[in-house]
Amino acid sequence: MIKKKVIALALLMLGAHTWLKADEGMWLPMFIKRLNYEDMQQKGLQLTADEIYSVNHSSLKDAIVMLSGGSCTAEIISKEGLALTNHHCAFGAIQQNSTTDHDYLLDGFWAMNREQELPAEGMTASFLVRMENVTEAINSQLNDDLSEMERYQIIAKVSDSIENAAIADTHYEANVKSFFEGNEFYLFVYETFTDVRLVGAPPSSIGKYGGDTDNWMWPRHTGDFSLLRVYTGPDGKPAPYSENNIPLQPKHHLPVSMEGVAKEDFAMVMGYPGSTDRYLTSFGVKQELDIHQPSVVKIRTKRLELMKEDMDASQAVRIKYASKYASVANYWKYFIGQSEQLRNNKVYERKLAEEKMFSDWLNENPDKKAKYGDALPLISSAYQELDKYNKAQTYLIESALVGSEISLFAYRFSGLERVLSAEEPNAERLAATISGLEGTTANHFKDYNLPTDKKVTAALFQLFSEDVKEEYQPEVFKEMVKKNKGDFSKLAEKLFDKSIFATKESVTEFLKDPDLKTLQKDPAYQLAQGFISTYRTGFGDGMQTAQIDLAKGNRLFVAGLREMQQDRKFYPNANSTMRLTYGTVEDYYPRDAVHYNYYTTLEGVMQKKDNDDPEFVVPDKLVELYMQKDYGKYADKDGTMHVCFLTNNDITGGNSGSPVINAKGELIGAAFDGNWEAMSGDIAFETEKQRTIVVDIRYVLFIIDKYAGAKHLVDEMTLAYNKPEVKKAAPAGVETNDKAVPASK
Ligand code: ARG
Repeated sequence: MIKKKVIALALLMLGAHTWLKADEGMWLPMFIKRLNYEDMQQKGLQLTADEIYSVNHSSLKDAIVMLSGGSCTAEIISKEGLALTNHHCAFGAIQQNSTTDHDYLLDGFWAMNREQELPAEGMTASFLVRMENVTEAINSQLNDDLSEMERYQIIAKVSDSIENAAIADTHYEANVKSFFEGNEFYLFVYETFTDVRLVGAPPSSIGKYGGDTDNWMWPRHTGDFSLLRVYTGPDGKPAPYSENNIPLQPKHHLPVSMEGVAKEDFAMVMGYPGSTDRYLTSFGVKQELDIHQPSVVKIRTKRLELMKEDMDASQAVRIKYASKYASVANYWKYFIGQSEQLRNNKVYERKLAEEKMFSDWLNENPDKKAKYGDALPLISSAYQELDKYNKAQTYLIESALVGSEISLFAYRFSGLERVLSAEEPNAERLAATISGLEGTTANHFKDYNLPTDKKVTAALFQLFSEDVKEEYQPEVFKEMVKKNKGDFSKLAEKLFDKSIFATKESVTEFLKDPDLKTLQKDPAYQLAQGFISTYRTGFGDGMQTAQIDLAKGNRLFVAGLREMQQDRKFYPNANSTMRLTYGTVEDYYPRDAVHYNYYTTLEGVMQKKDNDDPEFVVPDKLVELYMQKDYGKYADKDGTMHVCFLTNNDITGGNSGSPVINAKGELIGAAFDGNWEAMSGDIAFETEKQRTIVVDIRYVLFIIDKYAGAKHLVDEMTLAYNKPEVKKAAPAGVETNDKAVPASK
């Protein structure tokens, strides 16, 4: 008896009462009807489940775009393929199209007609055609006697055949993905468009206002939006960029709400969250805190410092490195915040408690113990092994292979080595490889500054040499260090001097008639190969065994948890598949006695303004509009210009640019960030404190129309105004509570 009470109490303290709360959860759209619909209605939703997700007729899902394979989300907002996303999602496209003569990062860009729209090279727009649960088809081929390796092979084989069948005779793409750590499988079919164009972007002083200082934080005053347009061939099908292409005719586009939001209004987000780790165990949290995150932060701090020196000294370098810098800085700050908040929010302790509950449950249920008893021991011993290599692995990627641009570039020629060393020369394959590498080369050098890379390479190689155990350093690296007597500037000097990968001319020359020997004896290529092979196989069989054990342990753990907590509604970790999260517009208390309101206004932009600080410059035109209170129809009912607001929706990276949608299916904003106090949120959701930061759609329209003078773009959208409410007059003196009255249908 007593024991049961203790367990009940523990459940309560663990936040078990929050399991059914709606804010947490990245739900698969196909299950909304069964799992969430009633709850959504209670929160105010007025749409049917079918209007949100249907494969038979158009629904909200048809307006949701996966950008470039999942880096961001966008939404279609006109019947001519106009799409809204974040400024930071189009940052690469804006940067690519910028030069010192027309610096669109600095000044913004607005296409005043279709001809002026700029190709966003490399960007793709995918629409989900359908998704399907294929768990049965896969699991029926598996059994408990299989080794993990055999298991993976069967899964890969069955997935392949499911994918091929799904796209037969179509131009679609398909992939099967694993869910719940290998317990379930789903098929996703997409239609992908490759002609995406940049239509509009505010200057960074609006689109990135607050810069890295305000990144990941509330209160926020950033107009983090940009506009794209998806184009199709004349037949409406995907086609590469061509002047003959036409704007996409979407199945659905989101109407834009002009009404603004109030606290506790229903809000949902549909999009493509990239990755979460909500079922990570205490062992994993510990590895993050003790090894992985401090390593990433240390290396990136150095890398950013050196890049910034050169960017501050030259406008050309600033443009070239703007996008690289922003993405390195984004996850640099992310990991600083995550470490801090994993501690503040006691995530390790909460995970331990959950694991204790799991073990207690197993001990009370012998049959379950037989099934899931291996889970935690496997995970624990796997981490014991993996912890030994985690630092070296992190450094191999962050400081060696990716941190040094010349290494990463050289690594990209690995395919060429394979082609050149094939026994049977294959001219066709060689030509295709060379042509691909010509593109890679052009891209690499377009945004490249050799002195910066040389400096960064020297510094990061030094960190690698100092911080990573010698036994985990590639031989070729150690030799180079020895030859240069530990002088890393000298090492870099020589490396860049001798490698063909240092200049565009030498690579281009090499590609005219590439030979195996030149490639294989190139020092940058040798280094890159050394780093990657150490990363893959340099830690011996122990590491591979541990990785397999970990995967198996996690699979059993999650399966066991789901059996243990039968009343809990489980959602799978984010994995770049379409999800829906719903909840309400909410304020929060970041810490004792401090209250954060749920919206910000232009007033706050002016309060933060500091034209001497590049992160807080406010353009004169915006100051003018503010002084004149020239907000037009975009002002809030209270007369101010609202800039950003908060919801308690559950999002993560990849959701950037996702539509925030009201109870009627109208667009109220674009999600663009999370808040500092819940930076641990990808590992454990914080019900009280975790918020989605949204740019208010009315601020977006105000900037387009009043600031940029691009009203033609607003005119293209479908603006939605509230129809006057037909309400029974309440008897005098009686307050009506709108919330309590169910929406009449
Ligand atoms: N933290 C945002 C995200 O990951 C990116 C914000 C970009 N802004 C910036 N200052 N780097 O979606």
